[in-house]
Amino acid sequence: MSTVTIPDALRETIQQYHQEHLLDNWDQLDDDSRIKFLKTLSEIDYAELARLIDVTLSDSTSSSALSIEDRISPLRQVVRLPRTDAEKKNRQLARQRGQNLLDNSKVGAILVAGGQGSRLGFPHPKGMYPIGPVTDRSLFQIFFEQLLSLSNRHNASIAYFIMTSDATHDETEKFLQEHNWFGYPPEDIYLFRQGKMPAVDDKNGKILLAKPGEIAMSPDGHGGMLQALKKSGLIDQMQTRGIEYLFYHQVDNPSVRICDPVMLGYHVQHDSEMSTKVVSKRTPEEKVGIVAELDEVQQIIEYSDLDKELAELRDKAGRLVYWAGNIAVHIFNRTLFEKLTQQGKTLPIHIAHKKVDHINENMESVSPEQPNAYKFEQFIFDAIPQAENPLVIEVDRASEFNPVKNATGEDSPETSRAALNKQANSWLQQAGYKTHPEATVEISPLIALSAEDLCDFDLQINQNDQEILIIPESEEDQ
Ligand code: UTP
Repeated sequence: MSTVTIPDALRETIQQYHQEHLLDNWDQLDDDSRIKFLKTLSEIDYAELARLIDVTLSDSTSSSALSIEDRISPLRQVVRLPRTDAEKKNRQLARQRGQNLLDNSKVGAILVAGGQGSRLGFPHPKGMYPIGPVTDRSLFQIFFEQLLSLSNRHNASIAYFIMTSDATHDETEKFLQEHNWFGYPPEDIYLFRQGKMPAVDDKNGKILLAKPGEIAMSPDGHGGMLQALKKSGLIDQMQTRGIEYLFYHQVDNPSVRICDPVMLGYHVQHDSEMSTKVVSKRTPEEKVGIVAELDEVQQIIEYSDLDKELAELRDKAGRLVYWAGNIAVHIFNRTLFEKLTQQGKTLPIHIAHKKVDHINENMESVSPEQPNAYKFEQFIFDAIPQAENPLVIEVDRASEFNPVKNATGEDSPETSRAALNKQANSWLQQAGYKTHPEATVEISPLIALSAEDLCDFDLQINQNDQEILIIPESEEDQ
């Protein structure tokens, strides 16, 4: 006889919210599975889930009485790419200001790496993806080397907060440990796990089981970062360390400039609580969220919500009015995290219609061909409307945004690697080196974070080399 039973209060709650099918297989579970299952069952917020299911199934998506067309207007707080001498000078000033913040250890970095990366189809956490044009340098290695290089230059510690999920945590930790955290001081690294949400059947709102005693859960979106940071005590830790600004980036962009001093400088110059980097959209149809204003409040509008006419709207000079494509690079004031995680505060929940493997009422495994379930996620960019003086900063796409999203085609490993190669080649040319026109080049961030950095070295480059690898001596021995 098992001694593990379902507490009455929990059973009643589950019944109250019509999810009693979850307990159908209780009798067949062994004690260990029961203990684990009970833990999951008791962590679900059934009332909130019921509310979401209600909204989803009744399709009463919150539509304002006014259409987007009546509410949208162009950005007011925006720093475009510098063109005039005054703008270039201001950029220099911003850089100095940002460097000062780094010198004084006022800056931390956050990486969100909890996504399932389903479009890429890589069977490991995306950060482990080998993206170096010459070597198998992983996305994680590129990020850690950038941070190591920065912390050495500024003789400062830069805490790195890495969000994982149940889907990515164990493998990420093992990979980073095996690589000795790429030389980064372990006391400056904080791994924390994001929350999860159950997937529900799209017809009746029943929570899906992955197998008996296990709910089909998925990560709660990159916006889950706020509650996950709070729950793990890391917002307090940031304060204890004296961190005032947090640079946020995603795992899929090897061209990201982590803790970019220029961005930090603009952020403080504008007294902003949250800044966002954007690139000019390639075409009106490009599938990227744009930053604009709705009801005079800055926010991100998903491409699916921007109708063709608005997407194609041009100003007198022929430029797109809604041009600012979000590349998911932000700076947050730490105090904004404190504000957004206060009791009763929460980011809105987005509903996604997806394919979710599960077991049916006969306990048979089902791998659906069509979307069969709703998943619930929060998006970090929903913090923008809640921030004071949100700022948008335009950057050059080719040098700062080359994400690995899809297995092939646009935004794939092939395009991303080609962009890294092109940039490394161009840095060498700018530093006065001649290379073979077909050369494949990889430069470790430990050697250079920009073309100027290469000028500090006397590199032996043979013009006939088809492969050029510029890495620290310590790595050459490995
Ligand atoms: P994406 O929106 O590209 O999602 O995540 P994804 O799960 O990685 O990939 P697909 O859509 O399944 O192909 C953008 C960033 O947000 C992180 C990802 O790891 C990536 O850095 N993310 C996403 C999380 O950390 N948690 C989540 O729940 C979702």
